[in-house]
Amino acid sequence: MTGQVRGVQLARLLGQWHALPGRRRSPDYAALAGTVRGLLADGRLPLGVRLPAERELAEALRISRTTVTAAYRQLRETGHLASRRGAGSWTMLPGNHRVASTGLWTPLDDREMLDLGVAALAAPPQLLTAARAAAEDLPSYLGGAGYHPTGIIELREAVADAYAARGLPTSADQIMVTSGTQHALDLVLRLALAPGGSVLVESPTYPNALAALAGRRARITTHGLAADGWEPDLLLGSLRQTRPKLAYLIPEFQNPTGHLMPAALRERVVAAAHAVGTDLVIDESFVDLPLDGTELPPPVGVYDRHSRVISIGGMSKPYWGGLRIGWVRASAPQVQRLAAVRVGVDMASPVLDQLVAVHLLADADAIVAERRVQLAVQRDALLGALAQRLPDWRVTVPRGGVTLWAELDGPVSSALARAAEEVGVRLAPGPRFGLDGTMERFLRLPFTLPAADLVEAVGRIAAVRYDLDRTGRQRWREPAVIA
Ligand SMILES: Cc1ncc(COP(=O)(O)O)c(C=O)c1O
Repeated sequence: MTGQVRGVQLARLLGQWHALPGRRRSPDYAALAGTVRGLLADGRLPLGVRLPAERELAEALRISRTTVTAAYRQLRETGHLASRRGAGSWTMLPGNHRVASTGLWTPLDDREMLDLGVAALAAPPQLLTAARAAAEDLPSYLGGAGYHPTGIIELREAVADAYAARGLPTSADQIMVTSGTQHALDLVLRLALAPGGSVLVESPTYPNALAALAGRRARITTHGLAADGWEPDLLLGSLRQTRPKLAYLIPEFQNPTGHLMPAALRERVVAAAHAVGTDLVIDESFVDLPLDGTELPPPVGVYDRHSRVISIGGMSKPYWGGLRIGWVRASAPQVQRLAAVRVGVDMASPVLDQLVAVHLLADADAIVAERRVQLAVQRDALLGALAQRLPDWRVTVPRGGVTLWAELDGPVSSALARAAEEVGVRLAPGPRFGLDGTMERFLRLPFTLPAADLVEAVGRIAAVRYDLDRTGRQRWREPAVIA
């Protein structure tokens, strides 16, 4: 049972709710609400499912609609139900309960929600063509078992060629195909970081990277990004002082801030990392997406003489997240070791999806050029709407990537996200990008939705921002995926 529970299903779960032992003389609506709370507490009714409409449940239970209305009201008051007018009511737990602060929780499949929590584009039109062409190619693989722990050779070659085109000569045996960049990070951490190992990350940073690090029980130190990006002396100083086993950095259009690391700092970071014995995990998720003709500095790997740099990247941002194709670029022996780790995890990536990726990469120039135009238009629409509706917020115009990092007019990010959810806008508040609940003055805003949706979303955010000062804090919150 996911997504929605129908009236008859809930009636079955509720069983003898009206004749429960110990009920005494409580009214029907209270008994009904109490039984729903019990089902939630026992895990029998999942969190985040949409309950049946009041009328439907009333019919299924053969009781009056007023009783169901009163029960739902009580569930809302106790924090077990979140309702949005016209959209329905979802189960939740009180006290801002969240399954994971890092957002790894199944999202509500609410198509009316303007989702600014996920920084990823819808698929490009070329995806279907590529999928059809991939199906045509499949027969040449069907004679084998289909397990390719480092990936199919066509895709490894295509990825290696793309690195070479960026000025970093790479052979196919230095590439391992993974099921997305997140998977690449997880595998690299399994290989390169013993449980409890020390890691340096940027702050703010990508929340799911923090989740992967939490999975290794990493001891994390942070380098706080300034309004204009990395502070070279502080970053190098942190590396020298803390001597972490590993540093995880996003040099191209950093998520969430959009900063681009200059070439000189790349060179110095690699040298400092080598001097103190730190491995660098370089997340290149956004490298294909410079906007406004911004020139990219050389890849960090260019400065690497000692196999200190492991680069990870993938198809999700320029192409489509649903493809689940990413990769690791490392030395050939490291790739072999990663493949050995991988057999204990997922064996290999799906062949068909890899073939789709091969076809998309063959058309990379055209597809990526269209994406950049689309993103620049959407970014400008977002900036325009912000300037008009929320002029007190400060934003640095990102020269690439898919997100901007807005500095708000007060420490209201989480409260704003809760309020926005009620008007159909999902946000990723600042604290989701840090470790310690700080960054309440910031909000990440992706420009991956169509321009009209972004303008509409900003209008709604502006309205609830205005209300926030008057009505105080909202009480409930739904868990959501940040990506
Ligand atoms: C910096 C960064 N790394 C990794 C990922 C995950 O990418 P994938 O969908 O390829 O797993 C994202 C997605 O938002 C990201 O922004």
